[in-house]
Amino acid sequence: MDKFVIEGGHKLRGTVRVSGAKNAALPLFAATILIPEPITFLNVPDVADIRTMAQLLRDLGAKVHRIEKGVWRIDTSTISETVAPYDVVKRMRASIYVLGPLIVRFGKARVSLPGGCAFGPRPVDFHIRGLKLMQADIKVEHGYIVAQAERLRSASIAFDKKSVGATAHLMMAASLADGKVTIENAALEPEVVTLAEFLKLAGAKISGEGTDELVIEGVDALKSPGEFEVIPDRIEAGTYAVAAYMTGGEVTITDLCIEHLRTVLEKLREAGSEFEMDKNSRSLSILPRNSEIKPLDIFTSPFPGFPTDMQAQFMAMLAIADGTSVIREGIYPDRFKHAFELTRLGADIKVDDGIAVVKGVKELTGAPVMASDLRASAALVLAGLVARGTTVVDRIYHLDRGYEDFELKLAALGAHIKRVS
Ligand code: UD1
Repeated sequence: MDKFVIEGGHKLRGTVRVSGAKNAALPLFAATILIPEPITFLNVPDVADIRTMAQLLRDLGAKVHRIEKGVWRIDTSTISETVAPYDVVKRMRASIYVLGPLIVRFGKARVSLPGGCAFGPRPVDFHIRGLKLMQADIKVEHGYIVAQAERLRSASIAFDKKSVGATAHLMMAASLADGKVTIENAALEPEVVTLAEFLKLAGAKISGEGTDELVIEGVDALKSPGEFEVIPDRIEAGTYAVAAYMTGGEVTITDLCIEHLRTVLEKLREAGSEFEMDKNSRSLSILPRNSEIKPLDIFTSPFPGFPTDMQAQFMAMLAIADGTSVIREGIYPDRFKHAFELTRLGADIKVDDGIAVVKGVKELTGAPVMASDLRASAALVLAGLVARGTTVVDRIYHLDRGYEDFELKLAALGAHIKRVS
């Protein structure tokens, strides 16, 4: 199993390019099931989750080719299978995205029920309820969601709370429904908006994306839009911004979308960071730090709120802030495993009832630590970059799921980090 070995204490300097967003690419890949024609995607990140989704589509019978770095061509006209087995779904929860598209295309599907994950229970009840409201016949049998429907029908769906996955999934399924589907309390994340844009280019009739109420007027068929470019990864961009500020370095992050990062940048500014944004909003330069990191009060919530996927990285930064910070998790109350690993590096963090209290310490010291999930891994690496001595981060397969060339990009910025087997 691969590990990262990090020698802390080196400021990051230079320029780093942000890759495409895996959380945008995953539903786009699944949506190709709705369109039995070749589609080419650009700016696809080279990460394990994308390879897993590609393999799932291949297992279903699709032709999926990585033409070159970032460019993938998918043709689902050859799909004949309608089962997504447990060993794929347990590796990647986003496999659930194929359920709705398979029902729509083939009238039936069997998709393994995902389990919990490192940061607590993650049910898919909104997905199932939405499909049922669209008149799919759905049962759970032997750990599988077994679904059938001749055609999905019009429905009014209202979520109890915002869900990125359920909004994206049901929007895909509804795009070929017979009639109108409304989704109230829809998620506003950029990954949902870009999926709507993709489906619209393919001929879907969708309005209200990026607002609380999505309206989808089903059409009879979708056509390939030819090519589609994946949006930049806002979480990857945010991770490099935090890394730059923490280490006191000077880093320009390119090919990002500032609009998607507003709340994260507001918090970074509140922590004392100074930065410059390029006129066309595609790049961000974090300026050298000449004072202590200020403590923060953070509450994670759905977009445009502070993203739960940036919580761990900010916690690593606040571990060395000048004062006490409070982090409240509004999405996953149990998503604090990284806090315990950070304390192994000397951080002073207490977690109770979905709230972490982080008392900044003067310095962290290197130690062996273990990653528990994707963003937790990134947080441990960031902590390792500022810790005195050597930090070894184990189980980085979590990190490989979602960060393209993480150690290579950091090393190019001057970090002393290497991958060892
Ligand atoms: C997506 C992201 C993940 C991010 C999360 C929240 C992808 C592939 N993953 O996950 O990185 O951390 O959004 O921003 O895009 N919920 C239910 N029932 C459901 C669905 C969700 O109760 O059927 C709850 C969840 O437990 C959670 C909240 O709703 O508390 C939001 O989850 P959701 O937005 O669905 O997360 P994902 O789409 O799984």
